[in-house]
Amino acid sequence: MEKKTIAVVTGASGGLGKEMVKLLLWEDVQEIFVIAKDEEKLSRLRQEMGERIRIFPMDLSDRDAILNFGAALLAENVTIRYLVNSAGYAKFGSCRDLSVLGSVDMIDVNCSAVVAMGLVCLPFMEQGSRILNIASQAAFQPLPYLNLYAATKAFVRNYSRGLNEELKEDGITVTAVCPGWIRTDFFDRAEIDAKKAPTRFFPMASPDQVAFKALSDAKKGKPISVYGLYTRFCHLVSKLLPQKWMMKLWLFQQGL
Ligand SMILES: NC(=O)c1ccc[n+]([C@@H]2O[C@H](COP(=O)([O-])OP(=O)(O)OC[C@H]3O[C@@H](n4cnc5c(N)ncnc54)[C@H](OP(=O)(O)O)[C@@H]3O)[C@@H](O)[C@H]2O)c1
Repeated sequence: MEKKTIAVVTGASGGLGKEMVKLLLWEDVQEIFVIAKDEEKLSRLRQEMGERIRIFPMDLSDRDAILNFGAALLAENVTIRYLVNSAGYAKFGSCRDLSVLGSVDMIDVNCSAVVAMGLVCLPFMEQGSRILNIASQAAFQPLPYLNLYAATKAFVRNYSRGLNEELKEDGITVTAVCPGWIRTDFFDRAEIDAKKAPTRFFPMASPDQVAFKALSDAKKGKPISVYGLYTRFCHLVSKLLPQKWMMKLWLFQQGL
């Protein structure tokens, strides 16, 4: 059986992940394997985008589900040209507003699943394959009242950059995508009516623009992709100022 060239996208049911799928349809891949929890949304995606879309509904906090996906890749005899780890979420509030299990789940989806999906897909990658891990501008500094989320994204950013160095000798690149606020369902998922929480989300980018920049940066082999002037400015400032000051600026900007 001849090998099939594919892309794999997590978090494909909406927002940034869905925009990545739209762009990848223009790339030289025969099929796109899309992953999210919501099977109905994935089925709609397939109806919308056609038969090159293959749906794999799964909860990425379930490690066995990820291992089973690895077994499916083996059975399908594939080469993975792109892996986009876009699934992830935040909760707006303090550590007291989050349950123990809720906190650990966020780490499972935002961090563990990114690592596990990478390792499961790696044996099917070859020279020229690209991994895009969606981190965030939140990765640049600690963010009180968005603290756990920011810490998970700092993990994704650092892990991705180190992985990029490790995989260079195989010709595989890893890009840590670090966008600022994006207009998606992210905010509905993050809102938990906490007393103290971020409420000022400016500037707001559109997901198609962020996805376009992320894919073109990944194709150039860039280790980090930062969309927009404001986020690039914050990136620079975070390299110059002590984290204590960065946190004060964040709290001031959010009126917290
Ligand atoms: N929006 C922003 O302001 C912003 C800024 C910077 C970075 N980001 C990052 O960008 C990425 C995409 O977020 P988005 O803005 O596109 O938000 P979104 O529209 O809410 O999309 C989140 C995606 O993640 C999936 N997902 C969440 N939990 C999952 C789980 N346990 N198992 C499988 N899939 C799961 C969702 O699938 P279901 O629909 O099936 O739940 C959905 O497809 C995230 O990593 C986010 O942290 C977002």
